[in-house]
Amino acid sequence: MRKKIVAGNWKMNMDYTAGVSLFSEVINMVKDEVRGEQEVVVCPPFVHLHSLSQLASQHAKISIGAQNCHQAESGAYTGEVSASMILSVGAEYVILGHSERRQYFGETNELLAKKTDIAIRTGLKPIFCIGETLEERNNKVHFDVIRKQLAEGVFHLTAEDFAKVVLAYEPVWAIGTGVTASPEQAQEVHAFIRKEVEGRYGDALAANTTILYGGSCNPKNAPELFSQADIDGGLIGGASLKSRDFTDIAKVFNQ
Ligand code: PGA
Repeated sequence: MRKKIVAGNWKMNMDYTAGVSLFSEVINMVKDEVRGEQEVVVCPPFVHLHSLSQLASQHAKISIGAQNCHQAESGAYTGEVSASMILSVGAEYVILGHSERRQYFGETNELLAKKTDIAIRTGLKPIFCIGETLEERNNKVHFDVIRKQLAEGVFHLTAEDFAKVVLAYEPVWAIGTGVTASPEQAQEVHAFIRKEVEGRYGDALAANTTILYGGSCNPKNAPELFSQADIDGGLIGGASLKSRDFTDIAKVFNQ
């Protein structure tokens, strides 16, 4: 059975003290309240990775991820952070292809394929984000956009490597806007994504692929979204900055 995951993307928020205190709250709430097989992943800015990984190491349910990595192993890339550095401080995941990276930092599918390669080669599990803009949805090309993002970003991987990837469908028009995709809209795209994975890797791997929904997810809308057949959890931005909201979202999978 595929893994259920609720992942928090802090983006560029929380200085050191605030981050440690938020994460300590999350750990306590998750420890007391989250029951079931779901995994909780917190993706803070780089500067938090080491200390949060240490705090998380006592808790089997909670893992840490970075929000980006560079595509090279090491070298003269001032200001960048490599996958092996991220792994070396105890993180397990790395978000790749977030729409903010695509939009503000010019990250292309081609570049993201390289980042995915190095992440996997290093031993990190990519949370690979895909999703269309409002214009693309209005022009009814959203399925084409997503097909291309998958084909060029991750479908070059071997089946063995693809099995390590978590996908996240994040319609750009729903990110940070308060406008969520309806459960039906999200399910339609998630089912499409799973079909694409099936076409490339076969039905067993497709059935085992975790596909998260992201975009204005909150404790109110998460239960209906997460009950859809092909939605296996969420990538949570704004609501992950509030320990209560984030834990309540993770609790949707309580058994
Ligand atoms: P949001 O962000 O929950 O604040 O919309 C989601 C994301 O960007 O991953």
